[in-house]
Amino acid sequence: MSDLKGKNAIITGASKGIGKAVAMSLAEKGINVLIAARTQGPLDSAVAEIKEKTTGVNVIGLSTDVSKLKDLQKLTDTALKEFGQIDILVNNAGVSSQYPFEKQPLEDLERLAHTNYLGYVRLIRLVIPHMIERKSGAIINMVSGSTLCDPLPKNFITYSSLKVGLRAFLKGLFWEMRDHGIKVTSILPGVVDTELTGKLKDITEKQNERLMKPKDVVDMVMFALSAPQNACPLELTVINQQTPWTKPVIDYTQSQAK
Ligand SMILES: NC(=O)c1ccc[n+]([C@@H]2O[C@H](COP(=O)([O-])OP(=O)(O)OC[C@H]3O[C@@H](n4cnc5c(N)ncnc54)[C@H](OP(=O)(O)O)[C@@H]3O)[C@@H](O)[C@H]2O)c1
Repeated sequence: MSDLKGKNAIITGASKGIGKAVAMSLAEKGINVLIAARTQGPLDSAVAEIKEKTTGVNVIGLSTDVSKLKDLQKLTDTALKEFGQIDILVNNAGVSSQYPFEKQPLEDLERLAHTNYLGYVRLIRLVIPHMIERKSGAIINMVSGSTLCDPLPKNFITYSSLKVGLRAFLKGLFWEMRDHGIKVTSILPGVVDTELTGKLKDITEKQNERLMKPKDVVDMVMFALSAPQNACPLELTVINQQTPWTKPVIDYTQSQAK
């Protein structure tokens, strides 16, 4: 996108971690942001923090559960009502889950599928008609570096396989949307220092230097958004120099630390 100033973005999962850092960075570039997450308190704090550190941008928070279609419809409607148009969608909201498959609760499978896969696909489906109308738009998606592992990391197979499916969907979508002037980019981060990975004690404890910071992922988002009009990064991978994901085996003891 040539000039980011004055554009309008939706960022999901933006009350914490990577999503919040992305929202802050977009707002600092003059982009109006509608940020979404389920829990009102952290969402309000993120809105206040972004407002405090930026000027001349519209910063709105909307309590949203991306696993619920009704909430996604409300999110899209709110963006169109408040901003008039949606230029950028950053699909980021996601949950982690770590179990040996036979111990994974059945309801956990549904929660992961509705959040980490359908949450992305449904929101894209709701947003693209408006982008197609204007023949312009960028859709950035937080996938996962774990999709590069074959076999997938032990005890993470549901989470990772949904991200594999998402990655495949987004690659296909890239070609379909290209014909409409819309850019689709997947970001594949390694292990980033957020609450999501904070639960993985064996990976994070005393090994903080192994983790990347949200800023490292934000840089990928900004790279994608500032690519020339006739160029679109299809996938951007940023992996720790010492990432545990290169090992397909992760001990179950980590999940017990939850
Ligand atoms: N951290 C990593 O190492 C890493 C690596 C690869 C990929 N990723 C991906 O990057 C994305 C962000 O991860 P993160 O590490 O920044 O996570 P995080 O720090 O745990 O933050 C997750 C954000 O998503 C929101 N969220 C969770 N479930 C939601 C739902 N159903 N509806 C709406 N919002 C929801 C959370 O707020 P509420 O709980 O209040 O809703 C929070 O704002 C995820 O998709 C994750 O899979 C992360």
